[in-house]
Amino acid sequence: MSEAKPESSTPDYPEQFAGIRNKIERRLTEIAPSVSGTAPRLKRSIRYSLLDGGKRLRPLITVLTTEALGGRAADAIDAACAIEMVHSASLVIDDLPCMDDATQRRGKPANHIAHGEDIAILGAISLISDAFGLIARDRHLPPDVKADLVSSLSKAIGVDGLCAGQERDLRDITEHSDAESLAQLQYQKTGALFVACLEAGARIAGLPQDSLAPLQAFGTHMGLAFQILDDLLDAVGQSAATGKDHRADLGKQTYAAIMSLDEAEAQASRELSCALEALEPAGINQAPFAAFLNLVLAAYQVQVDFGQVRQARARV
Ligand code: IPE
Ligand code: IPE
Ligand code: MG
Ligand code: MG
Ligand code: MG
Repeated sequence: MSEAKPESSTPDYPEQFAGIRNKIERRLTEIAPSVSGTAPRLKRSIRYSLLDGGKRLRPLITVLTTEALGGRAADAIDAACAIEMVHSASLVIDDLPCMDDATQRRGKPANHIAHGEDIAILGAISLISDAFGLIARDRHLPPDVKADLVSSLSKAIGVDGLCAGQERDLRDITEHSDAESLAQLQYQKTGALFVACLEAGARIAGLPQDSLAPLQAFGTHMGLAFQILDDLLDAVGQSAATGKDHRADLGKQTYAAIMSLDEAEAQASRELSCALEALEPAGINQAPFAAFLNLVLAAYQVQVDFGQVRQARARV
């Protein structure tokens, strides 16, 4: 797969990304509850899923968007951490026996295996609840921006967002056999939270609510490309690199199920190009966003098991 154009990732971007990730990790460490006082199991379970893990793509694109639009990273850190808390909770829930019944996450036993199902569920609820609390208490942001962030994040999670997408992913297993219907499902399951990142980053930088469309479109296309690549990794990823169960989504309607590997990769490439093109009419500097897309692509490429790719190609 080719890199997102324009090829503009100047040597500054890896450094900028590392700087943002450091700030995110530091703040998450401060936010995570210390294991003292009451409910030590719950606090351990939260720390287990929030710290030391994951690519941190969602907080990274949130802060990057704020900076790219002329805002200050410091203003976006707590909102970015709140989104990562929601994402981490969604992974705990996704892995439960009643959902994907996964055993590994981020290279460790899944939360419910390490801490028990009861505590895992409570930890996920706490993370989501505390995410909204973190935004509400944010001292950097004006009240109208905080209200928009809360509204956007709740929409990304609720009956039109992640929860709806998860229901369809788990229950409508004979539907979504065409790419359009699957794209809709994937938007709810995965894309909506990326859109919330773009919305948050832009609002924090001072963009008004009615100027968000190009960034929302970027998030939608990028989120779809991301989920296509994630589906492919489920089929042809190396577990040691993904840190997740291999073939956990076998039998579901995923991109890996409804099209060949080459078609799915081509579709992901198209979505990445559309993501960048969506920024053009608004005159937004595409360079940091292109660098982010290249990071997403690079993360996919290092996790692929090329032996399995060859076998998959041979089957087509
Ligand atoms: C995995 O997301 C869940 C999906 C939406 C496909 P990531 O691949 O971003 O997971 P982490 O945060 O890096 O573990
Ligand atoms: C889950 O999608 C997306 C979420 C909302 C958590 P997947 O089930 O494909 O995610 P992974 O592959 O387990 O990370
Ligand atoms: Mg799932
Ligand atoms: Mg899963
Ligand atoms: Mg997956």
